Amino acid sequence: MFFSKKKQHEIDMSRLPEHIGIIMDGNGRWAKRRGLPRSAGHSAGAESLKKIITEANNIGIKYITVYAFSTENWKRPKDEVDYLMSLLLDYLRNAEKTLSGENVVIRAIGSREGLSEEICKQIDKTEKFTSKNTGIVMNIALNYGGREEIASAARSACADVQSGKISVDDIDDKLFSEYLYTKNQPDVDLLIRTSGEQRLSNFMLWQVSYAEMWFTNKLWPDFKPADLHKAIIDFQNRGRRFGGV
Ligand code: FPP
Repeated sequence: MFFSKKKQHEIDMSRLPEHIGIIMDGNGRWAKRRGLPRSAGHSAGAESLKKIITEANNIGIKYITVYAFSTENWKRPKDEVDYLMSLLLDYLRNAEKTLSGENVVIRAIGSREGLSEEICKQIDKTEKFTSKNTGIVMNIALNYGGREEIASAARSACADVQSGKISVDDIDDKLFSEYLYTKNQPDVDLLIRTSGEQRLSNFMLWQVSYAEMWFTNKLWPDFKPADLHKAIIDFQNRGRRFGGV
């Protein structure tokens, strides 16, 4: 375990959130404050991400989903989109070795439509390379939109009804979950968003139904392992009732 001893005492290891979602926001503002191009903010964000994944894995978190590129992010200027895509490609390539060495399972969730062949191939390669690992499962939400995910799940469920595989009456929330990108994964327990914004922005709409939300004014490149500890400790101090009393 590499996380600080002090925090080790404060985090209750028997009540860890199983699945953490992170909306990594504020890269652009981080760069602007330093008079740097937005791309520098995204690079710094990617560095921050590596440290947080390592820490979450060391703590013993089972699943983490990070919002890397939304279905709406295509509206950004072409050079920024291209930069984010090249960063993602690099990240996946390097993760194959470094994060795999840390036993991380990497998965990309989202639509493949519009992604380059190069990225799609790299996703397949990285997913395959890390699939036998047994550490934290890291979902990279890439070309991801919560509504798109639900619509795509509905299409697949309808196709299964049409082919007679399931009947309409079989569809309940448990079965429907099996059509989502996060099939076989637990719901998000703790949702973190940086940069002071307090919105879901089309992130994991189904999976965050009972998530505890945790917001910080820190910009994503400034988010440190100590902030992750703080979010987990706050999570453990909340009373979760799931609609009960
Ligand atoms: C939001 O900041 C961040 C993004 C749209 C992209 C997130 C990407 C990274 C953290 C780095 C790359 C990720 C991987 C997996 C390699 P913003 O640009 O909206 O910031 P702003 O609101 O301050 O402009």
